[in-house]
Amino acid sequence: MNVSEIQNQILKLKKENDIYILAHSYQAREITEIADFVGDSYALSVKAATVDAKTVLMCGVRFMAETVKILSPQKKVILASPDAGCPMAEQMDKELIEQLKEMNPEYKVVAYINTTAELKTICDVCVTSSSAVKIIKAMPEKDILFIPDINLGTYVSKQCPDKNIKLVSGGCPTHCRVSEKHVLKAKEEHPNALLLVHPECTPDVAVHADYIGSTSGIIDYAVNSDAKEFIIGTENSISEHLQYECPDKMFYPLSKDLVCHNMKITTLPDVLNCCKGIAGEEIILDDETIARAKKCIDKMIEYGG
Ligand code: 13P
Ligand code: SF4
Repeated sequence: MNVSEIQNQILKLKKENDIYILAHSYQAREITEIADFVGDSYALSVKAATVDAKTVLMCGVRFMAETVKILSPQKKVILASPDAGCPMAEQMDKELIEQLKEMNPEYKVVAYINTTAELKTICDVCVTSSSAVKIIKAMPEKDILFIPDINLGTYVSKQCPDKNIKLVSGGCPTHCRVSEKHVLKAKEEHPNALLLVHPECTPDVAVHADYIGSTSGIIDYAVNSDAKEFIIGTENSISEHLQYECPDKMFYPLSKDLVCHNMKITTLPDVLNCCKGIAGEEIILDDETIARAKKCIDKMIEYGG
């Protein structure tokens, strides 16, 4: 079977079986083409809360599927590839965060959405890369313990100088692969290009950026800009999607190594097999985890909406 035959089978099966396909924008082109909705972590969460279908198939990583389950517990939620985790989401466990809370009792714990459902149960507010600044500014509290991404946390701290933000040392292994050295090389090769980076990049990269934003923020900025050339400092699928969307512009990955292997695990045939009911993993969370983690995600939607 070729790509379009598989895509047609998926479109037929998802209609027959009442399956709604959500895809993060880091997914491969052939998957985003057949998804019902493609977006960044924030947009996916907001969409998940309103979807009607009986089954939601998440093409992304585990914390994204867990977020859908937390927001729609009555639905069957399938993670297309059971091995697709986010290493950052696994970096901190409950014990560590409980200890930090004991040491900083007056601090509100703000968790990047790239955390496990279990960890969210002991955090106060969730944020995504596109909503973090808005949410933290909207929070009445000043003292904030931000977990687990030190780079996103550093970026947010700079944007929210009135807040007292304590950071913990975690981060995305994919975005941490690029450094100032890559920026200088890319700028030398493409002197007219604007540099657009994700806030998960380290500060030595972010300091050179013309724009810092989430995956959707980067896409919107590039599509709407009058500039013709862009160096893209996030997962390389974004450079590829943009090149399809804007054939009259040029997009250069900041590094060929900016690949998130977990986001790339899911293939189009995996999606087909999930629609046939012979692949994927159903996300099961107990009622207490759902209820406690939901409070943290609801706060995100309340402050970020
Ligand atoms: P977004 O918030 O831009 O979707 O980022 C999610 C992510 O995992 C980036 O590495
Ligand atoms: Fe996690 Fe980084 Fe991959 Fe995003 S790019 S899913 S933060 S490992």
